[in-house]
Amino acid sequence: MPAHQTLDHHTIEKYELGWLLISVVLVIMLFAGVLLSMVGETVPGLFGGKSSYIDPAKLNQTAFAAPGLKTAPDGSLDAYIVARAFQFQPNVLRVPAGRPVTMHMVAADVVHGLMLGQGNVNVELIPGQVSTFRATFNHPGTYTSQCHEYCGIGHQTMAFKLIVEAAK
Ligand code: CUA
Repeated sequence: MPAHQTLDHHTIEKYELGWLLISVVLVIMLFAGVLLSMVGETVPGLFGGKSSYIDPAKLNQTAFAAPGLKTAPDGSLDAYIVARAFQFQPNVLRVPAGRPVTMHMVAADVVHGLMLGQGNVNVELIPGQVSTFRATFNHPGTYTSQCHEYCGIGHQTMAFKLIVEAAK
């Protein structure tokens, strides 16, 4: 169509309808995305997250009763860490270098925070909300860190040490 011609109003309505449809689709996708993230628990604990929420008062009835590193019969490694005012249990964790460890971390009382190793693992610990993830620490060494969410009068004493041991 030559540039000097103006669009008749039927054509304009068609364009308007098109843009309207696109925006409606976008709104629906946004809405669906929000719902999916709630159901999928990327918004932690919103629905009590059956799989990842445990009663912080009953940690002693879970694997967190004996925190630390555990080796499963198949050789896979699981580490359980509990944060409570004002210590981490355990406060020293030894892991072998280069092997994936499934970390399970939870707070017993208030929100704490912990960074592990060289800084690419950083977890916010929420009471009862179990954070589970896999991490591999490739560089042997001793990494000290400390609670990084203010949790009370003893916050600055909540130290943690990760010892990555070279394969023997
Ligand atoms: Cu625990 Cu700050």
